[in-house]
Amino acid sequence: MSDHSLWFEGIRFPEKTHNREMLREVRDNFVVKDEDTIIVTYPKSGTHWLIEIVCLIHSKGDPKWIQSVPYWDRSPWIEVKLGNKSLKDQQSPRIYTTHLPIHLFPKSFFSSKAKVIYGIRNPRDVLVSGYYFGKQMNIVKNPETLEQYIKLFLQGEVIYGSWFEHVHGWLSMRERENVLVLFYEELIKDTRSTVEKICQFLGKKLKPAETDLVLQYSSFQFMKENKMSNGIRFHDFFVTENSTLMRKGIIGDWKNHFTVAQAEAFDKIYQEKMAGYPPKLFPWEDC
Ligand code: A3P
Repeated sequence: MSDHSLWFEGIRFPEKTHNREMLREVRDNFVVKDEDTIIVTYPKSGTHWLIEIVCLIHSKGDPKWIQSVPYWDRSPWIEVKLGNKSLKDQQSPRIYTTHLPIHLFPKSFFSSKAKVIYGIRNPRDVLVSGYYFGKQMNIVKNPETLEQYIKLFLQGEVIYGSWFEHVHGWLSMRERENVLVLFYEELIKDTRSTVEKICQFLGKKLKPAETDLVLQYSSFQFMKENKMSNGIRFHDFFVTENSTLMRKGIIGDWKNHFTVAQAEAFDKIYQEKMAGYPPKLFPWEDC
């Protein structure tokens, strides 16, 4: 029986929203412009939060845009059929989103000055978030139990492939001037400084009162209540009316889900795959 996924270059994608021609087209022919801002994440790493922050920085904290236009039109996903279509209507400077691993990212980026914000989150929390998201969505067939999902995640057979490969690929770009690496954990712990870091990276000067508005309107509670931020584009693929992108929005929820044995098994693979990075690079290592 089909599990509703397609494979492209060794990575699993949902076949309802993606196709191979578009993935190939995006990698080989999509023209990245110097003035583009691109939000890149592995799914469930805080993508929508970053979109909200970048859009609010763009409007200097004025919420009109985020309250009247859904996030998928404010910052469309380039590799998703509908997102790619909405991008055609965008004027420069464009903001767009992708979950693509680096080897499937538009080649034209590498000779451009476009700015990439790469968001990373503790893979254990990514996993739990993805597990619950998968339960709400029938876009692909997902495993029933967390145990099965952990296995699939560690094998890199979930949607968008291996978290480890994704992070290795994108972290290899972290010294570039036009790439900013941000951690979900730092956004949670010190939202203001992280927002200021984004402003600086994007060359935007906001007054303190404007930054206050960015913080207010991108807060978990506000986003949860804003249909243009928490709405679901692919209604047909959602299991219940109550499906939501805004589940808990916290650090360390994995501790409420993993058994000791699962945590140890995860750690073993994590240590093997993540050896060699500078100490303290990953904020979750002391959470
Ligand atoms: P949880 O499922 O752990 O709650 P993505 O946007 O990449 O799909 O990631 C979704 C995760 O980001 C969800 O995590 C969601 O709650 C969290 N998130 C979204 N907006 C947030 C915000 N303003 N503050 C904190 N977490 C947020």
